[in-house]
Amino acid sequence: MASTAYSRPSKPPGPAAGDRKGPRLAKELGRIEPKKLGIGLVAGCCLALLTYLSFARLFAIYSPVFDSSSLVLKNTPPATTTVPATETLPVQQETQVEDQKDVPDPEADPNMPNLPEVTTEKDQQEEATTTKPAGAISEAKITCDENGVDEGFPYARPPVCELAGDIRISPKEKAMYLVNPSGAGPFDSNGEKKIRPFARKDDFLLPGVVEVTIKSVSSAAVAPQCTRRHDVPVVVFSVAGYTDNFFHDNTDVLIPLFLTTEHLKGEVQFLITNFKPWWVHKFTPLLKKLSNYDVINFDKDEEVHCFRSGHLGMYRDRDLIISPHPTRNPHNYSMVDYNRFLRRAFNLPRDAPAVLGEETSAKPKMLIIERKGTRKLLNLREVSALCEALGFAVTVAEAGADVRGFADRVNAADVLLAVHGAGLTNQIFLPTGAVLVQIVPWGKMDWMATNFYGQPARDMRLRYVEYYVSEEETTLKDKYPRDHYVFKDPMRIHAQGWPGIAEIIMKQDVMVNMTRFKPFLLKALDELQE
Ligand SMILES: *[C@@H]1O[C@H](CO)[C@@H](O)[C@H](O)[C@H]1NC(C)=O
Ligand SMILES: *[C@@H]1O[C@H](CO)[C@@H](O)[C@H](O)[C@H]1NC(C)=O
Repeated sequence: MASTAYSRPSKPPGPAAGDRKGPRLAKELGRIEPKKLGIGLVAGCCLALLTYLSFARLFAIYSPVFDSSSLVLKNTPPATTTVPATETLPVQQETQVEDQKDVPDPEADPNMPNLPEVTTEKDQQEEATTTKPAGAISEAKITCDENGVDEGFPYARPPVCELAGDIRISPKEKAMYLVNPSGAGPFDSNGEKKIRPFARKDDFLLPGVVEVTIKSVSSAAVAPQCTRRHDVPVVVFSVAGYTDNFFHDNTDVLIPLFLTTEHLKGEVQFLITNFKPWWVHKFTPLLKKLSNYDVINFDKDEEVHCFRSGHLGMYRDRDLIISPHPTRNPHNYSMVDYNRFLRRAFNLPRDAPAVLGEETSAKPKMLIIERKGTRKLLNLREVSALCEALGFAVTVAEAGADVRGFADRVNAADVLLAVHGAGLTNQIFLPTGAVLVQIVPWGKMDWMATNFYGQPARDMRLRYVEYYVSEEETTLKDKYPRDHYVFKDPMRIHAQGWPGIAEIIMKQDVMVNMTRFKPFLLKALDELQE
């Protein structure tokens, strides 16, 4: 069976976790893609399956032919319902004692008020107006954004709470205390508010996300004593779910983190739950760019961390798309900003593609991302040769585990070409204005092609060319007669839900017709000359 990210069981690694590091890191990014089926449809054990279930649900909303009560929805939740808190991998970074901002033993710090008087705002939208008593840290405030709806993208509005005041986080209790004498806020009758701080609101995933309880307490005396005080805001978030899939690493964690914290210019402390050392290690350059402080493993930490403000959970938007929003994106970040952030974090040199013109003889560079599992481009050599003949300097590569290394290769390209799959996520590393060419396999894949990669490309101000293969160019023609509904009415494949999509659409290979494809390559070339 293909060694994809998906065929691994989603059970937490447990004590043997250390053994997994090698294989994981050795895995190739190109194979990690959001929507590929592993083998275990019935077992319901594959991350790919789960991802696709999410897509199916989303598609259900999009497409009237999709029966939302179909079997995909009855599938079992991921096996990751337990918290991999027992991971024993060496954590590459722990707390940093020399941090000036992190004062140990805060209760003994004379500059820190010990028992702040606080008030709480009654209405979440309304500013608290009570006078601040002398010595108070600040008024207790809590605002939770949890009822947002994005039609068609039900997972795009995860719950997130913003807190201010005397905040005490006790990871071992999975609790976040808010000293809140009035008791006001979105709390239940026990004065609690429970959130699973993962930036993808997906019922299949959420059972696997550590639940954190915000506890409203009447005074500091009944909250645990601070053992470490931080002068910067906190963000508590989970890296559960489909992470380790490069598309989801970005859509479900990194972009939300950027959206939530970029404006803090590094002055923010991350507490990460569902902590995966290999994941944190892999994305350390990005985490370090967003936070000047070493991340804290929420699953293992024994301290009581005190903050004056912060978030439980993160804001997010659609996949690889960030739109302006008054509260979720008040700083008006765009994907172009995210691209710039990535370039800074990885030291990628190019902000713009090569300018083609009279005075330069340099060839435009094309990177073709090769897929070795499904949706292979069977005549890749032929395509590559034609591209060379048209004047491109062509490189063919599979994305690797070395994110920075691959980011460099992508950033060096003026045109990125790939068949639909998670490898296209690498467009985030292209220089602004470069060209993305997506080859879309057979089977009415418009929705996925557009929403996962096409529209994001436009939002990143890339030039975007899409090529839909005809029925002559797919290996499906070797499996199904031409009068089969696969060709006559491909929406019927979607109507079957996940099994149809996975078994028929996602497993084809394509062989593009060079006569038909050539104008699209010329278009890519043209785009670079504009
Ligand atoms: C974001 O955009 C809105 C609407 O265009 C504008 O009113 C606001 O000032 C902008 N905010 C920032 C931080 O640029
Ligand atoms: C390739 O495409 C051209 C133009 O659409 C068409 O005339 C030709 O028949 C196609 N070749 C094959 C083998 O399908």
